[in-house]
Formats: sequence, structure tokens, C-alpha cells
Amino acid sequence: MDKQLAVDIDSLTLEFAGNQCLNIPSLTVEQGETVLFFGENGSGKTTLMKVLSGLIRCNSGRLRVLGHDLTTMPDRQASQFRADYIGHVFQELNLIPYLSAMENIVLPCGLSNIRADNAASSGLTPEYEAYQLMAKLKFEDPERLKKDIDKLSRGLQQRIAIARALMGKPKLVLADEPASAMGSYSQKVVYKLLTTWARENGSTLICISHNKDADAFFDRRVNMKEINENAEFNPLW
Ligand SMILES: Nc1ncnc2c1ncn2[C@@H]1O[C@H](COP(=O)(O)OP(=O)(O)OP(=O)(O)O)[C@@H](O)[C@H]1O
Ligand SMILES: [Mg+2]
Repeated sequence: MDKQLAVDIDSLTLEFAGNQCLNIPSLTVEQGETVLFFGENGSGKTTLMKVLSGLIRCNSGRLRVLGHDLTTMPDRQASQFRADYIGHVFQELNLIPYLSAMENIVLPCGLSNIRADNAASSGLTPEYEAYQLMAKLKFEDPERLKKDIDKLSRGLQQRIAIARALMGKPKLVLADEPASAMGSYSQKVVYKLLTTWARENGSTLICISHNKDADAFFDRRVNMKEINENAEFNPLW
């Protein structure tokens, strides 16, 4: 049964310096589902995404991701698990500033043989897959992918971060406000690409957005207020 769940949370709690940020009695996401998370600033959305990718460890409770128990997995193993199976578009992007845009996009294939094999099994080089993903994001100038990240606008940097997350077909994609710096047309392009891509590849997509235009593209919406008992009590500053 568990195998069919991409995310399975049971009584998860997380504190920062004595302040409880997450208190999630239960949350499940099925494999292959596309789910949109929304909620007020400070309601714990970004923190939850980082917990799901094993970057932040919870204080108590149980968390299974893609059938693996992340609460007991050692750090090294969790890093490789993340590299192999999770594409994460960070709210703060976390692109590598001294690498070109293209080098950033293909990075997951250097960190994971599984991601590199997935790119190769489509008969593509990672760079070709990168061009294809960027074309779907309406970015069709290969020359600009040779530029350093800091030479690109924030909206273009977000596209680079999205392509990096999808590179090598991860089983779970976590996208934290992936189109927040884009205009409304481009935002729809992003939600359409992410949801279509997930359905075509059988991957699970968890996306955070405040944009109402996103709703129509996803299988389900989740309000942080309904899953996190601490969503309304987090101090913002
Ligand atoms: N590393 C940290 N140390 C201490 N407190 C933190 C840390 N990270 C997050 N918090 C706190 O946890 C709460 C939730 O933050 P989080 O960034 O997850 O919210 P969010 O829902 O993503 O907000 P936003 O809509 O602004 O992106 C906030 O009160 C925040 O101040
Ligand atoms: Mg956030």
C-alpha cells in the first residue's frame, strides 16, 4: 500500500529554536498526483518542502517519501536519495553562481547515475534534454545558456531552476513558488509544463503557489491551514 504513496506523513512536528513551525497530524500524496499547496506567508510551506526532500529533519513523527523512511535514513544516504529521485525548485533558487546556466541545468546528471541514465535512455544527451526543457519554457536562445547565472534576470533564473529540477526525470518534483518572478502568461506556461511533464513521466508534483491561475492545472489543492496545526501561529519576524 505504502509503495503507491509518494508522501506519507504521520504526526510530524518540527521546531526552530523552541518555536513549533510544523505540526502535521497526517498528509498523504499519491504517486503520480499533481498537488498545489497554498497558504499565508509563514505558514510553513517552504519548510515542509525542505522536510520532504530530507534537507531539514523533523523532531518527531514519521515521514515516508517514495516508500522510504526519511526519518531514519542517515544523512549521506538521504543526500543520494534526493539526488536520485527528487527535483527541487527552491524558493530562493540556490543556483550555483560560478557555473553557466547550462552547467546548472545538467548538474543533477553529474550527481546521480540514475538521473544521467534517465537522460541517456531517452536517446538524449543531458544538454539536449536541457535545450528541450528550456524551449518548453519559451526560452529558445541556446547562446544565452552559456552565460553565468548572475547575468540572467530573475525570471530567467527561475526557468533555469525549473529545468534543473526536471533534468533526468526525478520521481518527485517539489516546486516552491517556481514562477513568482514571472508575468501571468509565463506563469501559466510554467504550471502547464510542470503538470504535463509530471503526467507524461508518471512523476509526482508538489507545487506551492499563491496564483489562482494555477488551480486549474492540478489534481488537488491543499491549504496549509488544514494540514499544519501551527500554520497560523508562526512568528514572521
Ligand atoms: N531556519 C529557520 N530558523 C528559524 N525559523 C525559521 C527557519 N526557517 C523558517 N523559519 C520560520 O518558520 C516559519 C515558516 O517559514 P516558511 O519559510 O516555511 O514559510 P512559508 O509558508 O514558505 O512563507 P512564504 O509564503 O513567505 O514563503 C516562519 O515563522 C519562519 O520564520
Ligand atoms: Mg516559502
